[in-house]
Amino acid sequence: MSEAHARRVQAQFGGSAAAYVGSAGHAAGEDLDRFLAWGAARRPDRVLDLATGGGHTALPFVGIARRVVAVDLTEPMLRAAREHVRACGGADVAFVAADASGLPFGDGAFDVVTCRTAAHHFADVGAAIRQIQRVLRPGGALLLQDILGHDDAEASAFILEVERRRDPSHMRSYRATEWKAFLRAAGLTVMEDAVIWKIREWNDWTGRMRMTAEARGALEAFVRAAPERCRAAFEFKITGDRVESFNDRQILLRAERD
Ligand SMILES: C[S@@+](CC[C@H](N)C(=O)[O-])C[C@H]1O[C@@H](n2cnc3c(N)ncnc32)[C@H](O)[C@@H]1O
Repeated sequence: MSEAHARRVQAQFGGSAAAYVGSAGHAAGEDLDRFLAWGAARRPDRVLDLATGGGHTALPFVGIARRVVAVDLTEPMLRAAREHVRACGGADVAFVAADASGLPFGDGAFDVVTCRTAAHHFADVGAAIRQIQRVLRPGGALLLQDILGHDDAEASAFILEVERRRDPSHMRSYRATEWKAFLRAAGLTVMEDAVIWKIREWNDWTGRMRMTAEARGALEAFVRAAPERCRAAFEFKITGDRVESFNDRQILLRAERD
């Protein structure tokens, strides 16, 4: 990835590490339950959690795998995650600073790779998927969850602007067909996929990324001024001048290395 984008990610997440560790929406959810069910069924020995953030996916995998490695690009995030995971009994999780597009592990080193709520930050998703394929053993599984791209161009441009104003390190989210093409091109076959909804409480969502009151006010004005059909596509709830929440579709994929 470009140095400039890496710095953007690190600037965004470096200052928000404590907020991510404490985020209830990351610590639990239907997506995490699905990952754990998929992961447990495979009885993995070695699991890599890519872009671990606050470590909320790595932590429950400690109960499933013999060895869990958590990778992230942002060192302060890794430190906060390590502290949190150790305090919760995950003393054996190894934390490694690395970029998704250059994983410092041997070929076939893992049985399962998890990547949850992170790929929309990757500058080169194709390169990251190729790395995941390389570090998975043949027959190993990728469990992936991310924001689902919208099929409508106007709705998609609207939510991209909302996301980027809140977090300049947001690159883009991909539609199901795009995900399947990335995976197929890398030699990964999709075995299962699902779409779930996550309600984003506006104050929590904007607060986690430390938006100034001014920037948040400008973003709320942008949302209120957007075409009704764009807001409706994400079920924005607005009371008077206040944005309350929106509905964020997520894709979940289980793919196997050929
Ligand atoms: C929302 S958090 C991840 C949440 C976490 N996976 C979970 O399950 O709670 C996004 C993380 O992706 C990391 N990240 C972004 N781009 C990355 C990259 N290219 N390589 C590795 N980590 C990256 C950020 O540093 C941040 O910690």
